[in-house]
Amino acid sequence: MGTQLLFPTLVYRAALHRHGVRDAAALNPRLLKECQQLRRDDAAGRRWSARNYPGGYTSYGSAHRMQELSPTFARLARDIDAHVARFARALQFALGARRLAMTDCWVNIMGRGAVHGLHLHPLSTISGVYYVAVPLGAPGLKLEDPRLARFMAAPPRARAARRTNRQWVTLSARAGQLVLFESWLRHEVLPHRDARERVSISFNYSWF
Ligand code: NI
Repeated sequence: MGTQLLFPTLVYRAALHRHGVRDAAALNPRLLKECQQLRRDDAAGRRWSARNYPGGYTSYGSAHRMQELSPTFARLARDIDAHVARFARALQFALGARRLAMTDCWVNIMGRGAVHGLHLHPLSTISGVYYVAVPLGAPGLKLEDPRLARFMAAPPRARAARRTNRQWVTLSARAGQLVLFESWLRHEVLPHRDARERVSISFNYSWF
């Protein structure tokens, strides 16, 4: 009886290595080095980024299957697989004989002024991000209520509304952590204001 919670939007956030801060400490410097090396090597990606990602570099348009190119990224993908499986259980997906598998994995380096506009990840099932390097105060991941387009005469929410009742929620970015969400959930990253770069790795999973 009373007010019930229906149709929740589930978002998953965790440290990549739950027990091993040491593991993350070993993996992140390697990932960071490879992200920076990729930017140096990837002229097509730098051109793509100059047009589509001012102030930043992304391999989204050039090297978007990094889990197949680099053993370090392959290791990251295996670690993320376990979290995706846990999230799929929380969502109570009936996967049957098909499985969730990583299809894309790409690098994002935000310099000062870089911004990631509101978007979703069409044709994927689960999407997410892993944070490699996050300067203090760097923007987090801003998520939008997926029902926003259907709100007609809905009043705005109280300033102190619970997180579950808000129309936007920003999850802070922390190195060594990952965030998972269903790919239809729109999200954005507000402008990065720091001269030190914010480095993340984005990925998609599809259901095969
Ligand atoms: Ni995205």
